[in-house]
Amino acid sequence: MKRIGILTAGGDTPAMNATIHGAVIRANQLRIEIFGLIKGFNSLFNPRVPHVHLNPLYQEIPEIDPTKGGTMIGSSRDYVDPDKTHELDIIASRLLKLGIEGLICVGGDGTLNGLQPLAERLPTVLAPKTIDNDLGLNYPGEPDEWVRVNDPGATGGFRYEKRDSHAVFDLNYIVNYATPGYATAVFVSASGVERIRTTAESHRRIAIIEVMGRHSGYIALGSAYGRPDIILVPEHPIDMEQIVDRVKHIYDLQKNVVIVCGEGIVDEKGTELGAETKSSDPAGNVALSGAAEALRHKLIAMMGDRYFQLYRRGNSAREAIFTRKVGHTQRGGRPIQFDRFYAAQLGAKAVELLLEGRNNAVATLQYNSEKGFAVDGFDAGRFRDRWGHIHARRLYPLLYDPKLLKPSQRGIEYLLPIFTDAIGDNDLEHLRRTIFAAGNLVQPYHSINTDVNKRIRYLKAEQ
Ligand code: F6P
Repeated sequence: MKRIGILTAGGDTPAMNATIHGAVIRANQLRIEIFGLIKGFNSLFNPRVPHVHLNPLYQEIPEIDPTKGGTMIGSSRDYVDPDKTHELDIIASRLLKLGIEGLICVGGDGTLNGLQPLAERLPTVLAPKTIDNDLGLNYPGEPDEWVRVNDPGATGGFRYEKRDSHAVFDLNYIVNYATPGYATAVFVSASGVERIRTTAESHRRIAIIEVMGRHSGYIALGSAYGRPDIILVPEHPIDMEQIVDRVKHIYDLQKNVVIVCGEGIVDEKGTELGAETKSSDPAGNVALSGAAEALRHKLIAMMGDRYFQLYRRGNSAREAIFTRKVGHTQRGGRPIQFDRFYAAQLGAKAVELLLEGRNNAVATLQYNSEKGFAVDGFDAGRFRDRWGHIHARRLYPLLYDPKLLKPSQRGIEYLLPIFTDAIGDNDLEHLRRTIFAAGNLVQPYHSINTDVNKRIRYLKAEQ
């Protein structure tokens, strides 16, 4: 293999540039040219296939900065439709014309689903990234537990349901223990929880903090590091009576409560609290928004104004209970050391997988309780259920304690290997030196896009 392509797809995460960096460094060592395709799968739909040569003369271009969040080659939620075979053939011929013999897609479960039809046309591998930490398997047999249930109301007339697991859960057998971007998202969320606590404490208020993660509660689980009083995850339907009891108990004691909720939390009937907008992105992901607000309304209705008036802690429940979203700050900015280090290794592993002749494989981060973390390769087919679909990983139920509304002992054991020493001295030093640099006040922001634009090349238009 002389030349490979790399693209970054789906929502940005802090460690995508680190993955590109790792891939380019390995490609340099192996004397392989590497082209960055602009804006994810979008570049493949463009007859001119905008691209950047990332390592002319096997030297990485200076714009590659593993400490910078986002992706220097751009991303989109564009999706390859497996039924559009003609379009797929055209895409394959465009890549052939560019001399690209293998493709690395940096993405999550949507991207892995999306690259399946491409892998039938040229060697394609995935380097994972997602703050949601939902690309992976809690145990290798997990895809076999999904079943299709007829549902006339659902798209396609069916929906997927997961049957109870009979597998033995062991941290050593998790496929892809953590995805690059997850640690940084948890770092931002936990810091946000700590900061909001002081307002709740000072003003005797109840804060509900919504974190991302779609239907997966890994970010919410990790936010435990910020020491919220209650954590609600999408995998366990909420029980409002239990929550109100717990909130009152804590409020009586300390005059403030901090609740973290994953954006995908569901009620007793399994309905998402966060109003789902009708539109879904091209990869089929529905947008979730408003879980914290919905929870706030339920708390207001159930606790009532009188409760707060009796305590002389405000005039109304509406005043006392407030919500905040950590929002896109958990997805942006400088990746912390854990993410940078393993993202780079996974990028390098993706190059190696292509060179080893692997196709439709995923570079994974494996954990071993004696040896720590190591990267490996896993066939993408093993992520697929009987119908070929790749499901987003959900929080393994035993990692959460639904009585305590907090991580269980297993959950704590899961988190520790990732977060102990996840932040490097260089992360702190970087913050110290850059945030209040005098130049920030004088110099306008210089976007990486301006520099990368100058390097974009195109395939000659098709006749
Ligand atoms: O999948 C990553 C993610 O950040 C989710 O946690 C979140 O629901 C979604 O993307 C938000 O997407 P967007 O940035 O398109 O609003």
